[in-house]
Parts: sequence; C-alpha cells; structure tokens
Amino acid sequence: MTIFGPDYVRAIAPYQGGKPIAEVAREFGLDEAAIVKLASNENPLGMPASARRAMQQAIDELARYPDSNGFDLKAALTQKFDVQADWITLGNGSNDILELAARALVQPGESVVYSQYSFAVYSLATQAVGARAIVVPAKDFGHDLDAMAAAIAPDTKLVFIANPNNPTGTFIDGDRIAAFLKQVPSRVVVVLDEAYTEYLQPAQRYDALGWARQYPNLIISRTFSKAYGLAGLRVGFGIAQPALTDLLNRIRQPFNVNSLAQAAAIAVLHDEDYLHKSAQVNTDGYQQITEAFTQRGIEFVPSCGNFVLFRAGADDGAGARVNLALLKKGIIVRPVGNYNLPQWLRVSIGLPEENAAFLDALKAVLA
Ligand SMILES: Cc1ncc(COP(=O)(O)O)c(C=O)c1O
Repeated sequence: MTIFGPDYVRAIAPYQGGKPIAEVAREFGLDEAAIVKLASNENPLGMPASARRAMQQAIDELARYPDSNGFDLKAALTQKFDVQADWITLGNGSNDILELAARALVQPGESVVYSQYSFAVYSLATQAVGARAIVVPAKDFGHDLDAMAAAIAPDTKLVFIANPNNPTGTFIDGDRIAAFLKQVPSRVVVVLDEAYTEYLQPAQRYDALGWARQYPNLIISRTFSKAYGLAGLRVGFGIAQPALTDLLNRIRQPFNVNSLAQAAAIAVLHDEDYLHKSAQVNTDGYQQITEAFTQRGIEFVPSCGNFVLFRAGADDGAGARVNLALLKKGIIVRPVGNYNLPQWLRVSIGLPEENAAFLDALKAVLA
C-alpha cells in the first residue's frame, strides 16, 4: 500500500472539538432544544445584535471577494488598540494566527516550546510543520515560565503561552510575563495567546501592547470567538511589530477572513455593552458553578477564563464515564483525556439556567 505524506503528518492526532448539539441529539435520541452545550467556551449570550445588523448590511456584497487586507476591520482595531495597521494580522479565528506563526517561523526538525496542559493547537501547529515539541511540565496546572525559559534550546524558534490558559483556566500575572520576555533570546518568537483576556478582572490586566512595542519578537494573539460572541464566524487577529507582521501576512491565505466576519467584527468591537455583559454573565456563572463545586467537595482549578476544569472522579475512567452519563442527560461538557487529564472534565460557563441544568445533572450522575 502506498503511504502518503510525511511521518510527522501521519502522527498527528486530530483536534477533538466539543460535540455539536445535533450530533448528541441524534446519538442519544434527545430533543435538540433540551440539550445544554457547555463544551467549547462559546459565549452563552448568543451572537450580539450589533453583529447581526452589520452582517445583514454586508450580505448583498457576498458575490464579491472580501477585502483581503481587511482595511476597515484593521482601521477599527487600530483605533481601539492604538497600533498601526501594519502591526495587525487578521486570522480565520486566532487559531489561524497560531498556525501562521508556526508556518512562518519554524522549519522541520527545529523546536517549539509550550507548556503541558496548554491549548491543544500548539502541539498540532508544531507537528504540522514537522517541528519538535519541547513540552515543559506544568506547575499547579499552569505555565512554569522559569522552566520554559530554561527549556529554550539553540534550535527553538517559537514559544507559545496561553494567558489565561485553556483548558486549565490558569493565569500568569503581568510581572511574571514581563520577566519571562526579558529572558527569552531575541531570536526566539513568543506568541502570547490572549483568547480569554476580556474575562480578566481589572486588577489582573497588564499592558501586552506595551510589550509588543518593546519586543520585536512578540506576537499577541486575540479572538472574536469568546467574549465578543462570534465563534462561528472565525475571526481573530495578531499584533506584532511590522517586520514580524509582514512575515505572517506573506503566508496568510489572501481571503482568510470572510466579508460577513469582517463586518460583524467591526460592529462588536464598538459594542461595549455586549462585552460588559459577557464579562458579567461569566463572573456570575463562575461563582454559581464553583460555589456548588465547593459545597459538594468537587475539586476544581480556579479559572480566569469562561470555563472551569473540575475533577470528575479519582480513577482514570472518571472523565469519560461522567461525560457519557452527562451526555445521556443532554449536557455536553468537554472531556480532556487528550490533555492527559483523564480524571477531569471542562465545563464552559453558561447562562444561569444552563449552569443550573449542568449542576443538577452532575449531582444525579455523581450520586
Ligand atoms: C487558548 C486558546 N487560544 C486560541 C483559541 C482559538 O480560538 P479561535 O480560533 O476561535 O479564535 C482557543 C479556542 O478555544 C483557545 O482556547
């Protein structure tokens, strides 16, 4: 039999997303309307009305290609973040930015550093370019930045950091990141993935854009998929100095962000009410879920994202078992066995009634 493709591509285990509602309805004979999906860290408020209006206006132009340079969206980002357009790379979700970084910067056989339990796409992007992963053991489920700095090898080209991290929700404070950036050799690029940054409390915030101005080897990655509520449209962006941005844009698919997505992203960028509400619903839901966990003696990792990692049981079958039992009750959460966390599950924070449905089902399953 002919074997196609390089070994390193054949070795990739495909990304496992949250189960779609329609699939769970089919598999378990459930009514779609009764299913609660808390599996993909989506925004429970649903798409912002401002985005819907903007897309309705943009729809007549769909026979044309999108603006490949995203002029209007970049202008809106420029305004909001006080950076020039040549510092911005638009992505088909921020996932695209992560992959562009790996493809633009790393050759087969070179190395990429990231943390144990950090976002699964770091390993996928690393493997897809035939690079060697240097996976640094986590500390208390989060990034051990000292160990990560020490792990940088002569052939390391890229470091991925998620802050907050998915699936653990751990957070690294600004002072520690600043100290880390100082330690990283200037030939190594750092991707600071801030997919959940809008959920941080005011006291936790730091000036990542200031670091981008200081360090020519830093890419900040952001998304419209979480607090901005546009996961299905696929829009994200990277901010870095022009030389690095130019490199990413050279290999970017020319039309990687579609017209509706660009129009919607511009609208939500100005929609402070929606963003504020997203953060509030998340803070309240986090309290609702973690208070119940605490009362019931369920171990969880304190989270700064829109999700919580919790221990489903003390044996390595617990995550899969509890997940299946929850699915049968119409509750979709995310198993994390692929992160080598077989005793744990990750639940996204939903609306109050969704969180309550999850907590009720979990109580019944664990009884
Ligand atoms: C840490 C982190 N980074 C990036 C992403 C990618 O999201 P998107 O491609 O929708 O922007 C996710 C999605 O779950 C994530 O958790």
